[in-house]
Amino acid sequence: MSTVVDRLLDRLAELKTEANAKIQEITSEPQVQDLRTMYLGKKGKVSEVLKSLGDVDGKDRPKIGQEANELRDFLESELRSGQTRLETARIEAEIAKESIDITLSGMRAPLGALHPLMQVRDRMIDIFSGIGFSVVEGPEIETDFCNFEALNVPADHPARDMQDTLYVRENIVLRTQTSSVQIRTMLAEKPPIKVIAPGAVYRNDDVDATHSPMFHQVEGLYVDESVSLEELKGTLEYFAKEMFGPKTKIRLRNSYFPFTEPSVEVDCTCIFCKGRGCRICKQSGWIEILGAGMVHPSLFEKVGYPEGKYTGFAFGMGIERIAMLLYGVDDIRLFYENDIRFLEQFR
Ligand code: DAH
Repeated sequence: MSTVVDRLLDRLAELKTEANAKIQEITSEPQVQDLRTMYLGKKGKVSEVLKSLGDVDGKDRPKIGQEANELRDFLESELRSGQTRLETARIEAEIAKESIDITLSGMRAPLGALHPLMQVRDRMIDIFSGIGFSVVEGPEIETDFCNFEALNVPADHPARDMQDTLYVRENIVLRTQTSSVQIRTMLAEKPPIKVIAPGAVYRNDDVDATHSPMFHQVEGLYVDESVSLEELKGTLEYFAKEMFGPKTKIRLRNSYFPFTEPSVEVDCTCIFCKGRGCRICKQSGWIEILGAGMVHPSLFEKVGYPEGKYTGFAFGMGIERIAMLLYGVDDIRLFYENDIRFLEQFR
């Protein structure tokens, strides 16, 4: 056997071991190209071996050639899988770097709460919806007709002085009372009507501890074929007990509103002294909470209902007033200043 052949075969085997060891250790993509050049390039180590082919017997040449080709194929495929290995590692590293740790606790957004006036409004809505009243709303910019005229307050009526009015233009006002929604509802619907209407109202008042040019009311209206004063009292007693506690009593005092006849003012037992008498109820044991009455027949006439067919009751109360009683707040301005130290107490 020719020793040249053996030497060349040994050399190829040696190159295989050497190159393979280097390929397995590559850590960067340029290294792949370097190794390819070093072993498989025109001037590479495998080509070098083939240059000695001239010294080999003709019959042995194919064998060396075949070995060399197999080595080329082997190294090429190892280099390719080395390349793939590096690419995969690079992609995985990138994914790991970009991924979000969903187990990390998030940043909590500071949570607000409903304004105390809106909390009280919502309690009123809850109480009245529980006994069949539905909620309706009317516009804050209102016609003179709905705010005054149809409620029996004509232009020269002294009752307009009770509610100093902010005019937008002639015959258009910022509503001074949610009673305007009584008219709107009756113009739009036929009885039975059983609604409450919460919302803001406006008056040309100077600000002090109990007055604000903007405040809130809840109006109530129940109209059907035989609604009685008895039912008005029962409804308001139920409301007072739900709002201020089951021991609360109410009383009706004779009063005057242009749109009700008879008209009453409604007191409940003082929620501070439970009726024994204190500074807040001026020792009377009673606190006024709202105005009410039986709907004046002329309102039915104004909205076009047939004469004598219906009766109804109405009531109206200030949300601020109820909230001040409920929470013992002695200055209405606290509700509008947006001082977080005040508001936080109603969370
Ligand atoms: N609108 C009246 C006011 O603002 C309150 C009121 C009194 C409403 C009697 C009513 C009522 O519905 O029947 O002072």
